[in-house]
Amino acid sequence: MCGNDHDHGGGRGSGPERARHGATGVRVRSTATLQSVAQHVVTSDEVRRSAAGFIGYGDTQRGDKVLVAVPRITDPDVLDAVVAGLHGVGARVDVIVMDDEPDRPFEARDEITMMMRREPYHVNLRRGDRAPWIEELAAARGYDLLIHGAAGPVPSSASRYEAFPWTTKEHFLGEANLFPRALHKIINEHTWGRITQNIGGRIRLTDPEGTDLTTTILEYPFHDGRHDYGLKPKWGHLMAHAPTPVGPDDDTTGVIAGTMSHYGRAFPRITLDIEGAKAAQITGGGEYGAAWRELDEETAGVQYPCFPAPGLFWLWELAIGTNPKIRRPSNIEQISSDGFEWERRRAGVIHCGLGTRWRSTEEDWAGDQGILYGHLHVHLLFPTLIVEAPDGSTVPVIEHGRLSAYDDPEVRDCAAQFGDPDELLRNDWEPSIPGINAAGSYDDYQEDPGKWIYGRTA
Ligand SMILES: [Fe+2]
Repeated sequence: MCGNDHDHGGGRGSGPERARHGATGVRVRSTATLQSVAQHVVTSDEVRRSAAGFIGYGDTQRGDKVLVAVPRITDPDVLDAVVAGLHGVGARVDVIVMDDEPDRPFEARDEITMMMRREPYHVNLRRGDRAPWIEELAAARGYDLLIHGAAGPVPSSASRYEAFPWTTKEHFLGEANLFPRALHKIINEHTWGRITQNIGGRIRLTDPEGTDLTTTILEYPFHDGRHDYGLKPKWGHLMAHAPTPVGPDDDTTGVIAGTMSHYGRAFPRITLDIEGAKAAQITGGGEYGAAWRELDEETAGVQYPCFPAPGLFWLWELAIGTNPKIRRPSNIEQISSDGFEWERRRAGVIHCGLGTRWRSTEEDWAGDQGILYGHLHVHLLFPTLIVEAPDGSTVPVIEHGRLSAYDDPEVRDCAAQFGDPDELLRNDWEPSIPGINAAGSYDDYQEDPGKWIYGRTA
């Protein structure tokens, strides 16, 4: 049996995963068109996740009212294709194009300007976020389905709500959107199971850019009802550390180091010394690091409701991507590429996040008082994550950026239903970093990663 479809709505008119993918399988990628990808998305199951590969509008039926709201930077051809796909199943579709800034190259402080706020988030939306007024409009006007928002957990709502994570044709035509859902789910289940079957054990996370972190897999966060966490996998975003609130017993300790965030330009290597889940020291990072230290100073005396002691930059997000077919966009220097936010969905890539949880009660608390909130990221592109189980055994979860679940017989058997397991269970895109997997010196690279990534100096 391949996959486990009990977590989603079933998708009226959606046949078995095998049937949909079996006709096209991995061959889709060579012939993918805007229309064929739209058709795939419109007929895929709805699971209220924003990760490529988990987007579907498949419960849509004739006569449904659908509201699509996207930022202005979205390629109109991608939007048109999705609307045409929805028309194809008989829906009526209204579209709102929301204003935002035109395309431009990323700047050093963009992670901060796009992620951090001192006012309620609906006053000044963060990049990729969902506008409360759109959600209110969809509810008030009785839309059957709202398609809105690029990333992060989809908020609770009484009616159907799905994401639209694509800005460019390259995003939309990528094979990641067509990866067999049942296989993607079993990859998630086998990766997540390595953590949930070893509660009470310890995680050791390392990366060649300098990360070396340990944390205990705590039991109570799985059961206390905190948002976007639990024993079932959160498709495409598997959290090796629980989301907020952070407890006083959190023993996460070590170093996080890297040269990329979600939205900013790549930066000189930053190191975060973590003690009891708190960033005790922030070193390097060029202009990003300097700006981060300013925010750390600003909030040093603030007691947030979600943290056990004052300060904003507590670690909670250690999130594992799960899609083997994600690639870095070719226009990575431009904000329309979605930056490194897109590639953090690749299987085995980890993004670390410190600060408040997206659209949480602590963010409401801070925004209402004009207090700084939000969280900032450091990406790990070649992580190794090992669980030291309570019985003393060691369980590999990721080895040098490759999910260990790829080798599980059940996962390989599932892959065989869709094509060549070796091809399907392979990360198609590997980042390239001098001194790690490319010729050259890491010391030189980390002083100005932009020179390597964008082909020019800052
Ligand atoms: Fe995050």
